[in-house]
Amino acid sequence: MFAATTIAEEILDLKQQRRAILLAHHYQEPEIQELADVVGDSLELARKAREFSGDVIAFCGVWFMAETAKVLNPNRIVVVPDREASCSLVESCPVEPIREFRRRNPGYTIVSYINTSIQVKAESDILCTSRNAVKIVNSIPPEKPVLFLPDRNLGNYVRRQTGRQNMKIWQGTCIVHATFPARRVAEAMLEHPGAKVVAHPECPESVLSMADFIGSTSAIIEWCAAQEASEFIVMTESGVNYSLARVAPGKRFHFVANENCNCSECPYMKLNTLEKLRDSLTNLEPRVELSQEIMRRALVPLERMLAVK
Ligand code: 13P
Ligand code: SF4
Repeated sequence: MFAATTIAEEILDLKQQRRAILLAHHYQEPEIQELADVVGDSLELARKAREFSGDVIAFCGVWFMAETAKVLNPNRIVVVPDREASCSLVESCPVEPIREFRRRNPGYTIVSYINTSIQVKAESDILCTSRNAVKIVNSIPPEKPVLFLPDRNLGNYVRRQTGRQNMKIWQGTCIVHATFPARRVAEAMLEHPGAKVVAHPECPESVLSMADFIGSTSAIIEWCAAQEASEFIVMTESGVNYSLARVAPGKRFHFVANENCNCSECPYMKLNTLEKLRDSLTNLEPRVELSQEIMRRALVPLERMLAVK
């Protein structure tokens, strides 16, 4: 009797046939993370994207992250399981007003969070992620005015950390992190006295002010694993629970529901499923297709970011 082939097995076969690497963001479902060659935050995935050999990158994350991988791997095919896997920050920041800002304010340095479209990246001077945003802004000469986009909460956090006053901040927000109410964090702290609070910098200041640690997705995971404490209130997307349980078994992690979905899940990230991943490796679609010109222009700020140590 033959055992039925599971979708996971089909994916592993297709991976070999296609000479594909599977990159997954921490916010993906556990069954996707289990199959991935690399699980990471947006900076780690951007770095890893160019370190592998193979013909295809199956990017299990959101579209802007896959565009970044394509810019770093222009000769490889990059697919994403679901074409609609976008991001509220990308959608908050169309390219035309950025071009207009540049025309009117040629002296500004435009620092774009990696959560932007490829068109916005191409208009930017340097990129950043939540892991390196403070370092990137500090790398810009203090007399140069900065436009930071598109995340308001990350921008305000960077301003507080750097003390930089000559910084304009775009007013975009993440529908997951920006809708965590401080009131619910306070309730969770009462319910779990002794738990440390960790938060992603896309959360509002009222939430960040209660945090023992603020950092990118991977930085949060590393910090929780390294602490003596055994209980944590985690103010980010609940997909990180999979990596947290792996690196810190025995510790307890509490997630707080936001006011967008009354959960802590990113609806864009969760569009990707095992079935869609299998189909994307079968059909090599949806595929990231970018012109040589836009890739050439977006590579400049991306390389500048990767060069900042
Ligand atoms: P990281 O840079 O922490 O991976 O964050 C990306 C993101 O989309 C957070 O919501
Ligand atoms: Fe975008 Fe927020 Fe989803 Fe991250 S969690 S991909 S910032 S909508």
